[in-house]
Amino acid sequence: MKKSTKVCIVGLGRAGRFHLASIKKLDSIELKYVVDPALSTRDDIVQNNDFILLEDIEEALADDELDAAIISPPTQFHFDCVTRFLKAGKHVFTEKPLGRSLAEIQTCFELSAKQEKALFLGFQRRYDRNFRALKSKVETLEPIKIIKTSSRDNPQPSLDYLKISGNIFHDMLIHDFDMLIFLLGNEPPISVFAYGHAYDEDIRKIPDLDTVMVILKYKTGLICSIDTSRNAIYGYDQRLEIFGEGGMAIAENERNHTVQMHTSQGMEVPAINESFPERYKEAYTAEIEDFTKALSQGRLTNIPRNECILGHLLANAAHRSIETGAPVDFEDYLASQGVDLRET
Ligand SMILES: NC(=O)c1ccc[n+]([C@@H]2O[C@H](COP(=O)([O-])OP(=O)(O)OC[C@H]3O[C@@H](n4cnc5c(N)ncnc54)[C@H](O)[C@@H]3O)[C@@H](O)[C@H]2O)c1
Repeated sequence: MKKSTKVCIVGLGRAGRFHLASIKKLDSIELKYVVDPALSTRDDIVQNNDFILLEDIEEALADDELDAAIISPPTQFHFDCVTRFLKAGKHVFTEKPLGRSLAEIQTCFELSAKQEKALFLGFQRRYDRNFRALKSKVETLEPIKIIKTSSRDNPQPSLDYLKISGNIFHDMLIHDFDMLIFLLGNEPPISVFAYGHAYDEDIRKIPDLDTVMVILKYKTGLICSIDTSRNAIYGYDQRLEIFGEGGMAIAENERNHTVQMHTSQGMEVPAINESFPERYKEAYTAEIEDFTKALSQGRLTNIPRNECILGHLLANAAHRSIETGAPVDFEDYLASQGVDLRET
């Protein structure tokens, strides 16, 4: 049996760097290549780590020793990288979003099944200890009547990133849609409605939004709201609340420490985590660890194809609601896409 999985990372930016940090913590995985055309052998990150730097993926694709690829370049390159590594017989872990269209997502899952190679998706909130504990309470709260999620980024990503991110629905809210699917399974809502605004002029010019609220209504009566902003000055704010017949469960932010200061002036609480690499550092490692375990167990996915498709279509529907100013009938929308979420 091989001692560890040999991988390459494609794209060593913000996401690639948290994957590099995870690999360094794990014995089950070994980094052979990094592919990033913007890096040079003189860069500190290359000098201080033990990997071969490549400008493109060709050498990695052809390397029989390489087991898997971690795909984290800008979103527009995901589909090409995922499909080429799967075709080359490598397992793939890819950052979200998997593809920019339903067809791309379906092609990736079909290829993974055909090649019998894993296709894992980087929805790290599913590996976060708070959200996992929250999920374990869902049954006790049923029937669930309201879910509220707040998802506010910090610091605001660069304009260069935002211009090529897809849009706020596919880049950011995709995590919140995935959280709803994680909690509820792939039960689709019947209606999706969104309001949004761009306070930032540069974001407005892209054109994109920096502040969005989405409301989803389900057949059971359940109503979910997602509020999101590209920039919260007080830190990286990710909370989730479930309210139901059995009570209420809340997953709070992680704080830098737990000491509260009480004085005659009132109470002071410590700041919440500053940004996503800090908030999710354990979850990022857990997802890569799960990926390496899956390879030895023959598991091909961490998130089923239909759950990934539902998240993508919810992002499309919310965007469409912004464009039309009206709620999107999600059952009609699913039918128009020829999607049956019960299919495996
Ligand atoms: N799961 C999460 O929490 C999370 C967080 C941030 C970003 N992401 C995702 O990760 C991806 C990258 O985002 P980021 O913030 O790291 O962006 P980034 O701009 O910080 O980094 C992208 C890196 O990819 C490199 N690159 C560009 N073209 C390339 C190519 N053709 N081949 C290989 N490398 C290439 C760039 O030089 C850069 O170093 C995005 O798809 C984003 O959605 C996920």
